[in-house]
Amino acid sequence: MALTPAAGAGGDSPVSSVPIHAARPLNAEVEWDDFDPQAYVRHNYADLRPDDRELLRRTRDFFGGATLADARCVDVGSGANLYPALTLLPFAHTVDLCEWSVSNVRWLRRQVDGYDELWDPYWQVCAEHPAYAALPDPRRRLAQVGRVRRASVFDLPRATWDAGTMFFVACSISAERAEAEDAVGCFLGALRPGSPFAVAVMLGSAGYHVGPRPFPAVALQRAEVVAAIAAGAYDVSVHEERPRPPLRDGYLSMMLVTGRVRG
Ligand SMILES: C[S@@+](CC[C@H](N)C(=O)[O-])C[C@H]1O[C@@H](n2cnc3c(N)ncnc32)[C@H](O)[C@@H]1O
Repeated sequence: MALTPAAGAGGDSPVSSVPIHAARPLNAEVEWDDFDPQAYVRHNYADLRPDDRELLRRTRDFFGGATLADARCVDVGSGANLYPALTLLPFAHTVDLCEWSVSNVRWLRRQVDGYDELWDPYWQVCAEHPAYAALPDPRRRLAQVGRVRRASVFDLPRATWDAGTMFFVACSISAERAEAEDAVGCFLGALRPGSPFAVAVMLGSAGYHVGPRPFPAVALQRAEVVAAIAAGAYDVSVHEERPRPPLRDGYLSMMLVTGRVRG
């Protein structure tokens, strides 16, 4: 996915236009129910782009090699993206899609019941791996095992799930750096020790629009994200997608971190 930069966040504004008390919304201060899932999907996922394809392929290979079966899985901040949940599908007893925005929760419920054709190319990438190809009807499987929950990453129960994904959430739910780190800690804490996970973030994000609405972000750097994850994980592996030229403005690169939760 790619995030369109929020107006005034990119550094082009003259200094005189910057308010003395710059707005730095915390997660709880943002109107998440105004998030428009259709606009978000149209902008980010209508076509499967090379950077998402690469993250999907790597996440698929990671879970495909993780010896998971009949697992209680979670995708956190699912918003309007199904591909993280698809990577969990062959190994899942259940997949809980935890999301805070009411509009996204509604969208997810419809997609879990029978997802749009737009997601078929994403599944086709998954199905290049034998563990995924063995699943004949992913649409039906998601309807069987998917459960949409309105839940905040900050309130997840601890040590509950056996595998998890969290894509483009830590970087994109607040303008406060400490909340990005908290989100990572809460996500890892919600998984049982030894659980495999995949986290994707935008690095250097300046905020984004969904339709006309601006949403906040933190301009994270690679080292701080890796450090936050490594504090609670082992077998950590990092991949950075830095398309040249950039596919969209508004961030420097996309990073995927996989690993297992420390006991
Ligand atoms: C940039 S979007 C990422 C959506 C999706 N995971 C993706 O890969 O494109 C950030 C998502 O986090 C959700 N969100 C915001 N605050 C949250 C919170 N406290 N707990 C869980 N999700 C939250 C938003 O509603 C939105 O769906």
